[in-house]
Amino acid sequence: MNKILYKKQLSQDVFLMKLHSPLISQERSAGQFIILQVDDDYGERIPLTIADADPVEGSITIIFQVVGKTTQQLSKLNEGDELPALVGPLGKPTHIEKFGTVVCVGGGIGVAPLHPIAEALKDAGNKVITIIGARNKDLLILEDEMKTIADEFIVCTDDGSYGRKSLVTEPLKEICERNPKPDMVIAIGPPVMMKFCAETTRPFNVFTQVSLNTIMVDGTGMCGGCRVNVANEAKFVCVDGPEFDAHKVDFDNMISRLNSYKEFEKEMHNCYLESEIDRKERGI
Ligand SMILES: Cc1cc2nc3c(=O)[nH]c(=O)nc-3n(C[C@H](O)[C@H](O)[C@H](O)COP(=O)(O)OP(=O)(O)OC[C@H]3O[C@@H](n4cnc5c(N)ncnc54)[C@H](O)[C@@H]3O)c2cc1C
Ligand code: FES
Repeated sequence: MNKILYKKQLSQDVFLMKLHSPLISQERSAGQFIILQVDDDYGERIPLTIADADPVEGSITIIFQVVGKTTQQLSKLNEGDELPALVGPLGKPTHIEKFGTVVCVGGGIGVAPLHPIAEALKDAGNKVITIIGARNKDLLILEDEMKTIADEFIVCTDDGSYGRKSLVTEPLKEICERNPKPDMVIAIGPPVMMKFCAETTRPFNVFTQVSLNTIMVDGTGMCGGCRVNVANEAKFVCVDGPEFDAHKVDFDNMISRLNSYKEFEKEMHNCYLESEIDRKERGI
């Protein structure tokens, strides 16, 4: 059940894994995600986007960044290990059609969920302009894969260690200033990046979609953990999303909700690291 078929480290903190999951591989569409659990006793359930799927092999691909306890535990598993729980596909698939020119903006690990969407948009006949960005060169992922899909491809790093030295919003603004302007933008990355992509496209009135990465617990719309305000209405990212009209999302509220759990998460992470060191010192 849920065996790890393949594991590859993409950068210092980013891993790709293929998981055996025949049913999910057949059912999933671009934009959907799974929830998995690494430890069946006290494990947290974490959402990860389905980055790719192979229905013939019966596998799905996840790409994740180690940020805390569960992603760290997951990164330590190896080919042949099994996950105790894996559910999906969850969330609404991305609405794919021929819009015209679509700008796909990915920041950091956000490039992983963006890749299947950009691929599906290209297959639907759109002109795809891709902007990917990261803090530095070592944190860039899926550059070749995104370049292959794109009609026009721009790479940015915050520190200028690779590509253009700028935030992704700079080339995004220039593309919106073109005549004709793009028909649509899809931005996936850290919440603050998505907020500023929305503010960049708003004056140009270019429809902008974002995929929100709120904290999730049950993934069924029951717990309320993933609640966001969209056009002044409460929405649940797990069942109403994860994609929403960026110009209607209350990002400040979302960011403040994410930050309200930060101290607990840090505590959990430190407890986990301390118990790991303790176990190693005791030779267990
Ligand atoms: C629909 C959806 C799809 C996602 N897809 C991916 C993916 O494909 N790849 C990937 O690497 N991550 C993805 N995420 C984010 C991923 O779920 C979190 O990184 C993970 O839950 C963190 O768990 P943890 O126990 O390792 O860290 P925790 O100990 O829970 O947190 C450690 C640190 O990470 C921050 N953090 C926790 N959760 C999130 C979050 N959801 N977004 C941003 N920061 C967070 C915390 O604020 C804290 O500072 C997705 C999230 C959602 C909602
Ligand atoms: S995760 Fe519980 S309502 Fe969305």
